[in-house]
Amino acid sequence: MQPVTKLALREVSKEDPLKVCFVCLGNICRSPTAEGVFQHIVNRDGLSALVEVDSAGTAAYHVGEPANSKSRMIAEQNGVSLTSKARKFEYSDFDYFDLVIAMDKENLRDLQRLDRKSRHRDKIFLLRDFDPVPGDKEVPDPYYGGINGFELVFEIVMRSCESLLEVVRPHVNS
Ligand code: 4NP
Repeated sequence: MQPVTKLALREVSKEDPLKVCFVCLGNICRSPTAEGVFQHIVNRDGLSALVEVDSAGTAAYHVGEPANSKSRMIAEQNGVSLTSKARKFEYSDFDYFDLVIAMDKENLRDLQRLDRKSRHRDKIFLLRDFDPVPGDKEVPDPYYGGINGFELVFEIVMRSCESLLEVVRPHVNS
């Protein structure tokens, strides 16, 4: 499958920025990495007034915790700071966010189950829907593995977020 290169998005302004929420299971490894990376490249490109970035988890195990120390270390080595505190994704988030971007297929299914009337299905994606490198569409869960898994997450997230920004850019140029 080809990556997604076009999105139907509303008109975005400084008064009403584009709102993007990245979602994984615990909100301590993958989605905080995606939040930090996307915020970093949004800032780099001078778009911070037009794009709001957040993350959340489908589970509540780690609510209130900072990002995993290995996730933070790899991000710092790449000039990205992860500042999120874990929270659970709530149904009301579907109303607030324009894009809800899941890290793996289980997260996607959990989000689709929460959106039981399919009112928000057009705003739910997998991050790797935007990945120019073909694969299984998942950002693999690094939680129980070694540092290599966290490095792989960062690499996939960085390249997918760069592509995501290119897809949203036509909608957020001031
Ligand atoms: P994340 O990783 O979904 O990328 O934040 C995980 C964090 C915690 C657990 C699983 C995955 N856990 O089972 O507690």
